[in-house]
Amino acid sequence: MSTCRVISCSNMKGGTGKTTTVNSLAAHCARKGFRVAVIDLDPQSNLTIGFGVDPQDLKGSMYDVLAPQSIPIEQVMVEKEGLFLAPAHMDMVRLEMQLVSLYGRETILNKKLLAIKDNYDLIIIDCPPSLNIFTINALCASDYVIIPIQCSSYYALYGIAQLLESINWVQQELNPNLEVLGVALTMENRTRISGQIIEEVNRQFEKLVFKTVIRQNVKLSEAPAMGTSIFGYAASSQGADDYARLAEEVVKRAGL
Ligand SMILES: Nc1ncnc2c1ncn2[C@@H]1O[C@H](COP(=O)(O)OP(=O)(O)OP(=O)(O)O)[C@@H](O)[C@H]1O
Ligand SMILES: [Mg+2]
Repeated sequence: MSTCRVISCSNMKGGTGKTTTVNSLAAHCARKGFRVAVIDLDPQSNLTIGFGVDPQDLKGSMYDVLAPQSIPIEQVMVEKEGLFLAPAHMDMVRLEMQLVSLYGRETILNKKLLAIKDNYDLIIIDCPPSLNIFTINALCASDYVIIPIQCSSYYALYGIAQLLESINWVQQELNPNLEVLGVALTMENRTRISGQIIEEVNRQFEKLVFKTVIRQNVKLSEAPAMGTSIFGYAASSQGADDYARLAEEVVKRAGL
């Protein structure tokens, strides 16, 4: 049996740090010597672009992998900084509609990953800010889900109940192995709101909350423009330090 762990990063609220978390966790783990792949399931393609890959230049993307006349996922993978990326493309918006009436549409990605799991220790999936067919595919293909919550936002907990409901549904109907690995607090900025959100998240999720709180750090928002991770761009920044510590917690919890 494969020892590969598949982890989705999901929150239907936009801008909670999903993509930054996927990029940083993957980069740290690849630097530690794990065989890592990341999958961009968001048509916005932020993860793809943040790795310095232009979706327009690609031979193929997750569109081609998930589309009805699909191709193997290895065919679209590109190597970046010691890890492998399965890129997204804007066309995936169209794909969502094409899949609506397809039988077994929730488990396409799971089937695709079976073919590559032996090649990796860790596969991390970046989900779109929505509970659509891509997020459901990610949850069906995953062992774990990480939920990043933006503590600098008053609306931080908006949509969490719906995400937990979807996780529950997937656990019952399609993937009994799925577990919430943890809740990651992101973009902490020493405001009163941040403090209140941290308190509320700890009250609701208790031990599930990762000890590391990711602080707001401008280097984290600059790194994608350089086409690299925080470790490639500013290895001694607060952002790199926070994500390295979070990654160590993830590695431990996931039993890697
Ligand atoms: N800790 C941080 N400090 C400063 N800026 C951050 C931090 N984390 C993320 N950002 C920036 O905040 C914005 C949103 O982050 P990110 O793209 O990771 O969120 P997301 O949840 O993936 O968004 P979406 O829902 O649109 O996919 C980005 O511009 C990112 O660079
Ligand atoms: Mg994103």
